[in-house]
Amino acid sequence: MGKSQLKGTVKIGGSKNASLPIMAASLLTDSECRIHKVPDLKDIRTMIGILECLGKTIVFDNGTLIINSKKNKSFVAPYRLVRTMRASFCCLGPLLAKRTKAKVALPGGCVIGPRPVDLHIKGLRQLGAQISIEKGYCLAQAKRLEGANIYLGGVFGSSVLATANVLMAATLAEAETLIEHAACEPEIESLANFLKKMGAQIKGEGTPTLKIKGVKSLSGCEFEVIPDRIEAGTFIAASLATKSSLNLQGADASHLRSVIDTAKRIGADINIDGNSSISVKPAKRLNPVNITTLPYPGFPTDLQAQFMACLCLADGISLITEKIYPDRFMHVAELNRMGASVQRNGPYAIIEGKHELFGAEVMASDLRASAALVIAALSAKGRTQVARVYHIDRGYEKIEDKLKKLGAKIERRKQ
Ligand code: EPU
Repeated sequence: MGKSQLKGTVKIGGSKNASLPIMAASLLTDSECRIHKVPDLKDIRTMIGILECLGKTIVFDNGTLIINSKKNKSFVAPYRLVRTMRASFCCLGPLLAKRTKAKVALPGGCVIGPRPVDLHIKGLRQLGAQISIEKGYCLAQAKRLEGANIYLGGVFGSSVLATANVLMAATLAEAETLIEHAACEPEIESLANFLKKMGAQIKGEGTPTLKIKGVKSLSGCEFEVIPDRIEAGTFIAASLATKSSLNLQGADASHLRSVIDTAKRIGADINIDGNSSISVKPAKRLNPVNITTLPYPGFPTDLQAQFMACLCLADGISLITEKIYPDRFMHVAELNRMGASVQRNGPYAIIEGKHELFGAEVMASDLRASAALVIAALSAKGRTQVARVYHIDRGYEKIEDKLKKLGAKIERRKQ
């Protein structure tokens, strides 16, 4: 990969993090679910594998998932699949609610931090589930879940997938459930909309208070996944770092307010055309800014690494505070290998902007870190080789094709 001037229009795909819990929600019914605009990613393929293990038949064609049920159903999500993707844990709630018991492997450690599941378990227990941890598995059972008032806030604020798990389980619980300190992320709002199409009674989606009136059963439905705000934000960061004007087609600006605000502060002229197109025109010089990652509508942790790559080229000192995953800084050492000057101190990273970055051999540690390294490489002088770049395939569909179309000098070599 080498220094590239990008130009043109890039099409933003469907959201990975909206698709995954929606796929898990299909466990709440035996009828057919058709889900459109699902990105073809490694994580989506993993979730397909898990659902098949749990007794679903799945056809995935041209961005549409058609999910049906087999006669024989299992309630066990095995470790061999769960360990590769933590989002598999959100099968626990729907399995428990629909099949009265569930055995889902505990996901274990992760390169971006400890990522506990205590809030998932607390919420489901409050709905009346008996839960135990045995031999690395979470075992849950309940003949019938019962609505409850559940406070789901944790030390780091709300939890996206714990909210998803408890919300899904509550749709089939007896009486009413109130979830307070629920995650407000657009992916949760989208999940709630999917559940409502299945016949669930939910109020307050997109706010910290969710009210769910349990129903006896849910039906199948047809649904379209929202655009991927993190993919869109990644291209905004790429536009800034390479000082290239880009047009993002199919992006939803209403999900990107904090990101657009940050990009403007760094020095971009941003135009929003209707509900599905964003054009980004960066200034010649980038301003240093301070960024704090926060739950939605704050700046997303999933764009912290990519924006750090931009700020490595700003005219001054920036401060990034990571409030969701205080250890999510594996990319710092790699950016420094490219000539950046980033000092990490606990949850803070101090970035002294440099005039230029230089190509180097670097190593990707996780999905968003690999995107950050690709952005840094496209703005660096000389050639960069990113090892373990396969991480990027978990969250970005056809990333090198999209970048090549924009004029990037990029190729993938077998490692
Ligand atoms: N937390 C707890 N206890 C819990 C659950 C979470 O303390 O039971 C803490 C976490 O350790 C973290 C904070 O709460 O400090 C927020 O974590 P959250 O539960 O919201 O994360 P998640 O639901 O597991 C989703 C995304 C992540 C994204 C986070 C935060 C999916 C599939 N994953 O994870 O996406 O970083 O929300 O926005 O939706 C990615 O796409 O690269 C990615 C990692």
